Amino acid sequence: MAKHQETARLIEQEAVAHETYRMSLHSPAIAREARAGQFLMLQVRDATDPLLRRPFSFHRIRRESGTVEILYRVVGRGTWLLSRLQPGAMLSLIGPLGNGFSLPPAGDGPIFLVAGGIGIAPLAELMAGLLEAAPSDASHGIHLFYGARTAVELLGAESLDHPGLRIHWSTDDGSAGLQGYVTQSMEGVTEGEGIRPVRIYSCGPLAMQYRLALWALRQGIEAQLSLESLMACGFGACLGCALPATGPGGSASSGYLHVCKDGPIFPAGSIQWDRIRQQQIAPPIFRCI
Ligand SMILES: Cc1cc2nc3c(=O)[nH]c(=O)nc-3n(C[C@H](O)[C@H](O)[C@H](O)COP(=O)(O)OP(=O)(O)OC[C@H]3O[C@@H](n4cnc5c(N)ncnc54)[C@H](O)[C@@H]3O)c2cc1C
Ligand code: FES
Repeated sequence: MAKHQETARLIEQEAVAHETYRMSLHSPAIAREARAGQFLMLQVRDATDPLLRRPFSFHRIRRESGTVEILYRVVGRGTWLLSRLQPGAMLSLIGPLGNGFSLPPAGDGPIFLVAGGIGIAPLAELMAGLLEAAPSDASHGIHLFYGARTAVELLGAESLDHPGLRIHWSTDDGSAGLQGYVTQSMEGVTEGEGIRPVRIYSCGPLAMQYRLALWALRQGIEAQLSLESLMACGFGACLGCALPATGPGGSASSGYLHVCKDGPIFPAGSIQWDRIRQQQIAPPIFRCI
């Protein structure tokens, strides 16, 4: 798949939740090629500070208007600078990068989408595609489990609601939806209502991905996880985004996968989760979006 370096015009930027912004960029070459789960590398401004491009998932891809949207949380200097930009600003992008989600056969279900916090970013485009392809049928339902630490970090229901979608809200502090982790919300529906997904797609913090991956492996349910690591280049040149890979049959191995070119979407069984969790293996800060 072709990747492009393109100078994009910022069309619109709005605050959509606490420290969270949605940005729309006119980037027709990238919009034409991009798929759900892929990402772009964005140069925050035309200067050497910040030096490195920043990776962001495609939140929405609008081929007809040649625009792509990113949804981002302000966590440091680069994202803070980004949040100050006004429509008309020009930004250098490289994309689309990475592998993207693989889609189930049309009408297959139930399907669970599990989003922790800003992890909703890549799942929105996937969800739109699944909803377009699937009939709104309870037995083949699409379930979104969407959790955050607290209510102000959640996107509003109006941007997610769809007749074919069942949303299960949760917050760690109970300020919206079920009180507890998003994985508890998912396990509750599976056990309490007897709904077993044919596939899970997820994105969220490491602790969530870790728990979800182990649960899916135990249950024998296919899960595709959008993972993240610190990235310098975004296309396989610096080898800085390595994660410990499993060997044949899920065994331990000394091999590595690179988030930018082997991912960012990985099957639950392809990563040595215990090595990341227990040994705090590089990258030093590891989370998914
Ligand atoms: C494939 C991919 C897709 C991503 N998609 C999104 C998205 O859709 N929305 C979104 O909000 N964020 C996303 N991120 C994370 C985003 O790239 C970082 O939050 C951003 O680069 C931080 O830049 P900064 O200059 O504001 O922060 P910095 O000043 O560079 O760092 C601030 C803090 O955040 C940490 N940090 C920086 N980059 C990362 C990273 N990649 N992973 C974990 N911690 C990091 C730093 O270690 C530091 O503690 C994605 C990352 C990857 C790898
Ligand atoms: S970010 Fe450079 S190899 Fe992945």
